[in-house]
Order: sequence, then C-alpha cells, then structure tokens
Amino acid sequence: MSIHKESIKRVTTHVLSEMKLKGEKISMLTSYDFSMANIVDKAGVDVILVGDSASNVMAGHETTLPITLDHMIYHGASVVRAVNRALVVVDLPFGTYQGNSKEALNSSIRIMKETSADAVKLEGGREVLESIDRILSAGIPVMGHLGLTPQSIHKFGTYTVRAKEEEEAKKLLEDAKLLEEAGCFAIVLEKIPAKLAKKVAESVNIPIIGIGAGNGVDGQVLVIHDMLGITQEFSPRFLRRYHNLFAEIKGAVQNYISDVKSRSFPSEREQY
Ligand code: KIV
Repeated sequence: MSIHKESIKRVTTHVLSEMKLKGEKISMLTSYDFSMANIVDKAGVDVILVGDSASNVMAGHETTLPITLDHMIYHGASVVRAVNRALVVVDLPFGTYQGNSKEALNSSIRIMKETSADAVKLEGGREVLESIDRILSAGIPVMGHLGLTPQSIHKFGTYTVRAKEEEEAKKLLEDAKLLEEAGCFAIVLEKIPAKLAKKVAESVNIPIIGIGAGNGVDGQVLVIHDMLGITQEFSPRFLRRYHNLFAEIKGAVQNYISDVKSRSFPSEREQY
C-alpha cells in the first residue's frame, strides 16, 4: 500500500451512517474500470458502485442479466486498484445469490477475495433475506436494492416507476425495514415516488441512496456513463446530464481522423 493510500481518510460503512445522522448527503457513482474510477475517486465521491449496469454500458447488453461473476470481479478489481478514498461496492450479478444462500456466500467471498472491494450489493427484499444473513455471517457488508430491480425485468416487463400502488408501496417499506433488521448497511431505492422514498428514509436508520427517488433520501447515485452524456438514448426524467461527452469524444475522434488523412499528424515535433 502506498503512503498516499494510508494518508487519506477512507469512507467506511460507519462513516456513511454518521453522514446520515448528521444529515450530510452521500454521493455515489458507478465506475467499471481503473481510469474512470481514478477520476471519480479523486473528485471526492463517497461511494463507487461497480454496478451490474456494466452489462449495459460496458458490454452493450440490453439487460443486466448476462453479466457474470467473473466479469464483475474483473471490473471490481480494476476499480479497487484506482481507489484511495471512496467505499467500493460490487454488485452480485443475476443468478449468483437468488434462491441459494450458500451460493450467495460463495459469490460474495469470491468478490471480496478477488477484488478487495468493501461490500457487495444485491437486489430484493424478503425473498433474499436468507442470502443476506449468510453473507453477513461471514463479515461481508451488504447494500440492499429495492424498487426498480433491473435483474427482475422479465418479471415486471417494463422499466417504469415502481411502487405507485398502495400495496406495492407497503411491501417496499416492509422490505426496507427487513433489510435494516437483517443488517444491511444501506439501501439503494430505484425509480419510486419521491414521497414514498422520503418515508422509507425517515423510517429506517441506515442510509437510503436514491436513483429516481427524489430529494428526500440520504444520498444519490447515477450511472457515470449517463451523467457524463456518453450514453445517448437513455434519458429518464431523473437523469441530470453534466456533460455531453458523446459529442466531445466524437468531435475529438473526427479531428484525429482528419489530421491523419491530411497528414498533419504527426508533426515534426511529434516524431523521433
Ligand atoms: O448497476 C447499477 O448501476 C445500479 C445502480 C443503477 C444503482 O444498480
């Protein structure tokens, strides 16, 4: 470990719960590779999520279902090598924890051993409690994920706002309480009404991180490719684009092509 790594105060799960207590908002962004994680960490984000959204933005799949545990470990290890301060959470991919708590534990142990991440994240409420229990029993911190859970897209059929109806809202609140009781250190709430998300954040003591869940929660998360404008087609209401990197990168590449074709690159100064 470098001196630099040791001298920086790292974000821990304990720091996140203190932030909630103090009313200090938590910033979280995804990263999937060393170079981006290096920038995101140096910018000072609190939590880096190695999300299974890598399946979409890195590999070009329609859904998050195809990404494997080996892929997530590759992305997780690349991110951890860059990070000095942020808490790094790695998503357990589809099919590595549902319905089999022993497999959930083995998958989480592989992530922790082979990436050196700080925690794992998984989707679901009551139905994954046994898996959560078993992972926690090995001392591995777990982040929950409720609301729109993209790994269940084939069950729901659409990516529309979840828990608009009273029954689903009631179940979501119950699930959040169950995840807290089980020992999750935080929960992501995706694409649910802001009023409900605020109620959940006020009903539990662990941090609630929202994506499309309004301003009444304890922190926000976005997919880095979306907030930087690298992805183009995805533009839900909750997404704020901080840049149009697609246009900027495309322009730079076009300039390069034109310089090569016109023989103006490399110049005298750019050769040996
Ligand atoms: O995989 C992911 O990027 C996520 C966020 C959208 C929370 O789970």
